[in-house]
Amino acid sequence: MALIEVRDLHKVFRRPVKDPGFVGALRHLAVRRFTDVTAVDGIDLTVQTGEAVAYVGPNGAGKSTTVKMLSGILVPTSGLVRVGGIVPHEDRIANARQIGVLFGQRTQQWWDLPVRDTLELLREMYDVPRRDFAERLERFDDVLGLGELLPVVARKLSLGQRMRADLAATFLHAPRVVYLDEPTIGLDISVKDRVRAFLRSVVQEGTTLMLTTHDLGDIEDVCHRIVIIDRGRIIHDGPLARVKDVYATERTIHAQMLGPIDLAGLREALPLARIDTGSAPGELALAFDRTHLTSGQVVRALALAGELDDLRIDEPSVEDVVRRVYAGDLVLDVGDRVTDRADATDRADSAETAETLAPVRDTT
Ligand SMILES: Nc1ncnc2c1ncn2[C@@H]1O[C@H](COP(=O)(O)OP(=O)(O)OP(=O)(O)O)[C@@H](O)[C@H]1O
Ligand SMILES: [Mg+2]
Repeated sequence: MALIEVRDLHKVFRRPVKDPGFVGALRHLAVRRFTDVTAVDGIDLTVQTGEAVAYVGPNGAGKSTTVKMLSGILVPTSGLVRVGGIVPHEDRIANARQIGVLFGQRTQQWWDLPVRDTLELLREMYDVPRRDFAERLERFDDVLGLGELLPVVARKLSLGQRMRADLAATFLHAPRVVYLDEPTIGLDISVKDRVRAFLRSVVQEGTTLMLTTHDLGDIEDVCHRIVIIDRGRIIHDGPLARVKDVYATERTIHAQMLGPIDLAGLREALPLARIDTGSAPGELALAFDRTHLTSGQVVRALALAGELDDLRIDEPSVEDVVRRVYAGDLVLDVGDRVTDRADATDRADSAETAETLAPVRDTT
């Protein structure tokens, strides 16, 4: 059953444009100018009950804005959002009962209260029966080590402790769908592992999860589907394993040769491969794109160039692909076309550039 339905969703923010300085501020009072920032630009997304979806993309891509519309915090400029049949921004309270949200950058703890009191308040807000409450606290203690944090006042928590307490707050009312926006930001490895194990267990129990993260380990550990967005649009949506097939086309063959190598002949046979000699005698590395050359062609050319002793084929991992998406090295286009950043000089790449290029509208 489709739990989350998003159709042609848009969010446009209007930002005042002010010239610098006092004169600029005065001028802004007289003639207000604005620039429109399209944060979400026509997103279609269907998430089935029980799915765990990674929602990834570079800074400013529109991830948090999408999550805010899904959770009813922001009203869409246009388009449709429905979560469990509810339009989130129209029925915030009904929606709040079925969802959990965590923004890793902000806390949901009441600053001056011990964690226990925050959870107790949430228990009352969500009408969680005492028995369920006690059971869940026990579970949060098992997986998140919550027990030791209960008496601590929120503002005295370290970042990692705060995140554990926030996760408990997010999951306290056993929401059927949970949006996590950077839930492992700033956490050390051991806490991250605990958080990921916890998330895996709630997904196994049937909770639907949308996870926004820059941490590739979170994605691989928890999600099976990856949605990549860039400049407000979805540019890839599919099983995690398939991202690699589509976007990671480079291969490297590491060969160990015996005796003399006809390097000139090899270069002539494989003009599309980058051929490097290794530090040890007979070592070769051949990098190529599998859409231009097959491994078979490379191996045949190697066998003609000398005596092939051993070889290994390296292909990029999902992490490599997503890392390149985040680093902005890989420009992904709608329609599954991939360009390396170096080839895409004519594009307005960053959200910032897009903003400065946005038409300035005079509203007076
Ligand atoms: N309240 C707002 N007012 C104006 N512009 C906004 C607002 N919130 C977001 N934006 C702009 O919308 C775009 C998308 O922002 P968003 O926070 O959704 O990106 P993100 O994908 O979550 O990025 P990050 O990885 O940095 O968290 C950015 O250009 C951002 O500056
Ligand atoms: Mg964000």
